[in-house]
Amino acid sequence: MDKIIINGGRTLKGDVSISGSKNAALPILVSALLTDGKCTFHNVPDLRDIRSIIELLAHLGVRVERENNTVTIDASGLNNHEAPYEIVRTMRASILVLCPLVARLKKARVSLPGGCAIGARPINFHLKGLTSLGASIELEHGYVKASAKELIGNEIYFDIPTVTGTENLMMAAVLAKGETKLRNAAREPEVIALADVLTKMGAKIDGVGTSIITIKGVSALKPVTVTIIPDRIETGTFMTAAALTKGDVLIKDCEPEHVGGIILKLKLTGADIRAENNNIRARGADEIESVDIKTLPYPGFPTDMQAQFMVLMSVAKGLSMITETIFENRYIHVSELKRMGADITLSGNSAMVKGVNTLSGAPVMATDLRASASLILAGLSAKGKTEISRVYHLDRGYDAIEKKFKKLGAAIERIKD
Ligand code: EPU
Repeated sequence: MDKIIINGGRTLKGDVSISGSKNAALPILVSALLTDGKCTFHNVPDLRDIRSIIELLAHLGVRVERENNTVTIDASGLNNHEAPYEIVRTMRASILVLCPLVARLKKARVSLPGGCAIGARPINFHLKGLTSLGASIELEHGYVKASAKELIGNEIYFDIPTVTGTENLMMAAVLAKGETKLRNAAREPEVIALADVLTKMGAKIDGVGTSIITIKGVSALKPVTVTIIPDRIETGTFMTAAALTKGDVLIKDCEPEHVGGIILKLKLTGADIRAENNNIRARGADEIESVDIKTLPYPGFPTDMQAQFMVLMSVAKGLSMITETIFENRYIHVSELKRMGADITLSGNSAMVKGVNTLSGAPVMATDLRASASLILAGLSAKGKTEISRVYHLDRGYDAIEKKFKKLGAAIERIKD
């Protein structure tokens, strides 16, 4: 397995371009299943999760071609309704094919995603929602088996706003008969991006970006050509890295509006963050102030930025309280950060972080994507050498992260196994 070696303590300077959003690209690539022709997607990031979803789509009988960051998907040959365990277990987002398959083929057999390092992550809201639209669902041999003669619009209430749940149900409702209302829907930019694509395909969707989405079903959708929005978590990770290393980084090709909450929190730490059009300039302060954060559904502070922000607080002046409300086990990075000298006390879903002068490099590893990103940031800030193993988690969600940091002046290398 590859490793990343960092010699920390360098100030990051220069510019970096943000890649397309992983969590927008995944449902959008899947949405091609709803059409009977060739869709073209630009700005698709080169990530392991994207390769997994492409593998799954190809398995379903769909023609997929990739050239650099452009992916074309022709679902006219869609003929297989089964998403096997071997592919689904590598990526939970595979569950996104459930509703499009039922909408197009009237049936689906999708492996249940297993447990996950950051929490139990059930899919009960996806299943309850699809049942409300008239599908019968059985769980057998580790698979969800769903079928419906026809899908019929209905009102669906999510107990918690779920991102992929909202996306999955939107993809069922666009081809259902009549009107569907999704109440307490997720409002993340990735949900809006998917709705924009579906609308371009001919779907009738209202209220996107609010917590009540109304969808009037249509009988067919047409293929589209679209560009994937920039990755807001990658943007936040680079802004935080600039603040942490007291650097000066111009972050290009991003969407400042999507990271408004992160910008405000970073400003409170003393960083100077300025957005103009699709660029953000992030400059770190000499002294980092402590700031509390609580993760919440969008537009709240994203759980996918909690680990990276914690690293910044590890070397801030004073005490910071971090509260994770989305996933029950998203503190995997804490024990590794403590091995690097961070002073963090966990109590339930809160972490009390007492800033130290400096972190010290150490061999570390993590078992999820954002935890791994936080260890990269810790390594960039630490004195001495940090060796990060299990890098494949990073490759799931960050496009060429070490190359981008190297261009900014970091002493970072990937050691190929
Ligand atoms: N939940 C349920 N039942 C469900 C669905 C969700 O109880 O049927 C709970 C979850 O366990 C969690 C909460 O609802 O406590 C919210 O989870 P959500 O469904 O919104 O998460 P997700 O759709 O599985 C997406 C992102 C995650 C991101 C979360 C929260 C994708 C592919 N994944 O997951 O991204 O953390 O929303 O914003 O969009 C990442 O990129 O590293 C990542 C984990």
